[in-house]
Amino acid sequence: MYYGGDYNPEQWPEEVWQEDVALMRRAGVNLVTVGVFSWARLEPREGEYDFGWLDRVLDLLHDGGVQVCLATPTTQPPPWIGEEARNVSADGVRLTHGSRDTYCVSSPAYRAKSLEIAARLAGRYGRHPALAMWHVHNEYGSWCHCEHTAAAFRVWLRGAYGGLEALNDAWTTSFWSQHYSAWEQVTTPRATQYLPNPSQALDFRRFLSDELLGHFREQKEILAPSGVPVTTNFHFGDWVPVDQREWAEAVDLVAIDHYPAQDPPEETAFAADLARCWAAGKPWVLMEQAVVAYTGGRIVPRRPGEVARLSLSHVARGARGVMFFQWRASRGGAELWHGGMVPHAGPDSRIFREVCELGALLPSVPDAGDVRAEAAILWDTASWWALQSRGLPSSEVDYLDALRQAHRVLYRHGVTAGFAYPSADLSAYRLVLVPSLCLISDADAANLRRYVEGGGTLVVSFFSGVSDEHGRVRLGGYPGALREVLGVRVEEFHPLAEPVELSDGAAGPPPSGAGSPPDWGTGTLWSEHVHLAGAQALVSYASGPLAGLPAVTRHAYGSGTALYVSTRLADAAFARLLGLAPHPAGLELVRHDRAVFAINHGDREQPVGPGRDLVTGTVVESLPPGGFAVLAGLEAADAGDVRVGIGAER
Ligand code: GAL
Repeated sequence: MYYGGDYNPEQWPEEVWQEDVALMRRAGVNLVTVGVFSWARLEPREGEYDFGWLDRVLDLLHDGGVQVCLATPTTQPPPWIGEEARNVSADGVRLTHGSRDTYCVSSPAYRAKSLEIAARLAGRYGRHPALAMWHVHNEYGSWCHCEHTAAAFRVWLRGAYGGLEALNDAWTTSFWSQHYSAWEQVTTPRATQYLPNPSQALDFRRFLSDELLGHFREQKEILAPSGVPVTTNFHFGDWVPVDQREWAEAVDLVAIDHYPAQDPPEETAFAADLARCWAAGKPWVLMEQAVVAYTGGRIVPRRPGEVARLSLSHVARGARGVMFFQWRASRGGAELWHGGMVPHAGPDSRIFREVCELGALLPSVPDAGDVRAEAAILWDTASWWALQSRGLPSSEVDYLDALRQAHRVLYRHGVTAGFAYPSADLSAYRLVLVPSLCLISDADAANLRRYVEGGGTLVVSFFSGVSDEHGRVRLGGYPGALREVLGVRVEEFHPLAEPVELSDGAAGPPPSGAGSPPDWGTGTLWSEHVHLAGAQALVSYASGPLAGLPAVTRHAYGSGTALYVSTRLADAAFARLLGLAPHPAGLELVRHDRAVFAINHGDREQPVGPGRDLVTGTVVESLPPGGFAVLAGLEAADAGDVRVGIGAER
């Protein structure tokens, strides 16, 4: 288990380094990431190198028993770098040095200089005894629209489409006089008068992901001969043009940065489950988190015990390392108020004491085998990107919001869930949720059909299956590729400005003698004119233009069941649909092969078990607020049983 953070000794006089190492030892730190933003200090003038200070830092850390995750500093070139190495915004502005991430990976000058500094580091430190890991770059994700990028984009497109006519077809350039007659006419989606071509925008993100990945691979090739794992830290944001699914195959271990703000436990569970999906069996680590939260324009310290709970949540979901940005809070610079494991107040502080406590606890967390998820939520980067286009039927449909709701409902009911790709073998899951998967290939649609045929329960929500992988609509009725398995045909979308009432079952009066029907609340955001084509209505619209028509349907298909949810249900209604049992608020449970990890994020004592806590060796029957245990022999309290309620029972 790695424990530590980004260490930026170049911001401090050398006397402080001695204290740093002593404090790291006190905190149980065993790994620090060094050199992320050090290019200007390592190569102060082009071709003139200064490695002396880094030699001393690495030796000092090694003598102190702290291992090094050594970064290549390519995420921010020094001020001397030529203008051509910097990126150009969509409206044609060449960005200026002064912040960070100001580079263009397609620029030959940047490419050459960045590989050279990586090679110098590999040559000098590849055999250093402190070296445990390489950290390439930082949070790849910069965009560029310069001529080099446009040329590389054309090369990528030729590879993807072969001929120009195939590109014209995939991008539907017959619309708005966009038909290309020569490759030179094709460029990046720069600023334009009105709506850009959505297929072009989607391909540009796919290209950028591949182009950045090419740069990562080149660095990895340089660093790999040293024999230690090579990684880069994934940043998760809707502006990031990185398809983590593909990148995860290229790294030796997956590393994520995570800065939860609104609901830290739920956001942490979401991010950690996603990281585990990306890692697909490889180790993964939390490379960066913070001792503060950014909320509503404020930077607020994490509450007492919160840093530990969130860190343990990552560990419970499979993380093999818990790291921070950064070791020591900076005195100046753009992020001086960001906080650190050693805050401005110094080691005599609550934060540093908590950092030490966590460092002491982590080595005692047992290996309880793999996380055992019984439900999966499908994750698809291209659908996420496509749902960021303008010109959609509703500007309010938010892919992440849909995923977060699906995850939150399972999380709040104690169900151990994972994410999976639409092409994955889903047969191990009892339940698969498919939120707004708007783009789907024929092969992936067939995979989902096979899952249901084989006995699985698939719950698809609105605006799924509608387009092919280029974003072209599948004709004949929505949800396109999923019509057959869902047994419905949707004629129109009716995005909602106001909530609409929902009623139980098919339209019409309830059967006489029936008890009071469940309350499904309202549908919000979206609704659809659904025709049954084999499915039965479980919930209907009771107000609005679609009153009397099906809102939620169930279809028996092969040995399984496919549900379609054509509106946004409230969380409680979603949980009812899945038949989830009530679960104590704030109690996080994660099943592993040999134990259940339990964390109490709430402010009340919660009964769990009884089970034997593998951390302390004692029998535990309840968890105090902030409590943590790894419970073996917990079958009786193995909460979070998935029963797909109305789908299965009626
Ligand atoms: C991360 C980044 C760090 C630091 C941190 C502050 O995204 O990798 O260098 O800037 O954010 O929140």
